[in-house]
Amino acid sequence: MALPSSASGTARMLTVPALLLLLSSAALLIAAFRFRFFAALQFDLVRHHGISHYPDEETTNHTALPCPGELLVEEHHSNYGEPWAGGRDVFEFLANASALTPRDQVLEIGCGTLRVGLHFIRFLEAAKFHCLERDELSLMAALRYELPAQGLLYKRPMIVRGEDMDFSRFGDTVMYDLIYASAVFLHIPDKLVWTGLERLAGKLRPQRGRIFVSHNIKFCSRLGGDECTRRLTELGLEYVRKHTHDSLLFNHYEIWFEFRRPKV
Ligand SMILES: C[S@@+](CC[C@H](N)C(=O)[O-])C[C@H]1O[C@@H](n2cnc3c(N)ncnc32)[C@H](O)[C@@H]1O
Repeated sequence: MALPSSASGTARMLTVPALLLLLSSAALLIAAFRFRFFAALQFDLVRHHGISHYPDEETTNHTALPCPGELLVEEHHSNYGEPWAGGRDVFEFLANASALTPRDQVLEIGCGTLRVGLHFIRFLEAAKFHCLERDELSLMAALRYELPAQGLLYKRPMIVRGEDMDFSRFGDTVMYDLIYASAVFLHIPDKLVWTGLERLAGKLRPQRGRIFVSHNIKFCSRLGGDECTRRLTELGLEYVRKHTHDSLLFNHYEIWFEFRRPKV
């Protein structure tokens, strides 16, 4: 039924301002989004010059690395056994299993080319991601390619070169909510793994903090169950349980072992 002419006039008068309001809100939203995006970009470029150097003497600056051509064609995405995309799976699993929040402090041992680490860096507040990595090419890929390419330099992750479980460069007072080693402990000598655990046990937040180790814990099982439990207890650590995590992306699953520090 047609509206009487005065009613249809009123409806038109109401519709036009509503439409204008809708259009101007959408324009405001788009402008705010563009501002945030370009502000982040400018922050990266102006403050850090698009280069992930820390303000340090060149000679002692481990991040002053070249960016070889193979990085630009992303050869490093197939450096390690897992598909690059599987990094997201690992992040999803660990973030859920540890009830991670953006304010938490995280350490990755052997972060490689940041296959997993990138997702943590994006999620966490600035300076909350630490990593100890021994391989120089991986560090180049992480610092000179991945972080700038993902616009994540402003998150200032602290990625340090080292292979002897020396965590002193991360500071004396840091406490971790999550420490993880993805496909790393199975490649290094048991003795070195225990050295790492010994140095990190006191830096794991009591009760809430978690250590996650992927694939296997032969550094533990090779000692025998009782001896392993004894050594963990001596460090103030406790084995919690084994997890199986199904990939979100492809036909694959990963095994993770969880540890915690029951009391101070
Ligand atoms: C199989 S890759 C895994 C990389 C990454 N965690 C991931 O899941 O994509 C193993 C990594 O551990 C590093 N690594 C091996 N031994 C190490 C050590 N003693 N200290 C620090 N990093 C180490 C290697 O250089 C390599 O980047």
